Amino acid sequence: MFVREVAPYLYEVGARDPGRRLFDELIPLPEGTSYNSYLIKGSGKTALIDSVDPTKSEILLKNLKDAGVFRLDYIISNHAEQDHSGTIPELLEKYPDSKVVTNAKCREFLMSLLHIKEERFIEVKEGDTLSLGNKTLEFIMAPWVHWPETMLTYLVEDKILFSCDFFGSHFSTDELFVEDEKKVYTAAKRYYAEIMMPFRKMIKGHLKKLEGYEIGMIAPSHGPLYQKPEFIIDAYKDWVSDEVRNNVIIAYVSMHGSTKILADRLERKLKEKNIHVRKFNLTDSDIGEIAIELVDSATIVLGSPTVLTGPHPSIVSVAYLANALRPKTKFAAIIGSFGWAEIQSEKIKALIPNLKVELLSQAIARGLPTRDDLEKIDELAEQIYQKHKNSGLI
Ligand code: FEO
Repeated sequence: MFVREVAPYLYEVGARDPGRRLFDELIPLPEGTSYNSYLIKGSGKTALIDSVDPTKSEILLKNLKDAGVFRLDYIISNHAEQDHSGTIPELLEKYPDSKVVTNAKCREFLMSLLHIKEERFIEVKEGDTLSLGNKTLEFIMAPWVHWPETMLTYLVEDKILFSCDFFGSHFSTDELFVEDEKKVYTAAKRYYAEIMMPFRKMIKGHLKKLEGYEIGMIAPSHGPLYQKPEFIIDAYKDWVSDEVRNNVIIAYVSMHGSTKILADRLERKLKEKNIHVRKFNLTDSDIGEIAIELVDSATIVLGSPTVLTGPHPSIVSVAYLANALRPKTKFAAIIGSFGWAEIQSEKIKALIPNLKVELLSQAIARGLPTRDDLEKIDELAEQIYQKHKNSGLI
């Protein structure tokens, strides 16, 4: 790891974590991640914006030493989650004169999560500024991206926005700036889907507020920096909009093949109608891929057999996740099979109250699907087609 110069007074001194495969013990990280930390050397004071995950504290401390930092005046904490705050206690010990600059809510969290003492804090509010001499930091409150205490820091003279998780991507790369926009777009969309999507309405408001700032660069705390901020701002505007696409997700699990027959037929029938379909067999699926599709798919179809008096646990897990992520999906349907009692569909419906969807007709087969069951799938495909068409998606 090494110190990376963003500008003559600004350095990225955090750590990459290419081997990490799970975040929150839940979210797959196919590209690893990074914990960016930004050192600003002003003419009067030195500040660090966010720290790193505690597993990488040695790297941050070494980078600060290599950058010639013997005195650190301010540690700006944009967000209390430990992947950015976890090394603050070590920094406070190493730099005993330093103060943590953050808002009241974040201070409260840092005191409980990391046992940082109250006297080490400087509290800031919306629009407050902090002078480093020739550089000025302005603080922009941005609650719920994605915790209630989150804020952004804006370097006034250079028009750089330090956005922490907002606009970030779990993407470990030695490239300081975005080079491959397609790759970063996918990683950022996955990040938005898994972390930010439940707060879509709040994010709309924050994007509106940011229109009042001239932003020349965005420096997030995960993934590469954006020299063309409009690339990621426009992507976010699209994701948080109410627009959906002519896409259907079929997420299914099949124990003895009956539900699979229904899922395969539905996929084929929808494709014949020029509807884009992503089908996920849940025995072998990355939930991050499903989350990405949830960002803008118009329809989700959940397919499950009945097992032990209810839906299969794999479909329960996906339904629970979709419900928690609150996507803007417009339509939903349930397909599946049973042996002697159909009791899964009502239980699946009860798992998704947050999805503001219109429930379409269901197709549930007893045992191996019959001709009638397959016709029900064909009818569902036609219904989805009509719904998409009437919504202007086709
Ligand atoms: Fe990257 Fe919410 O922490």
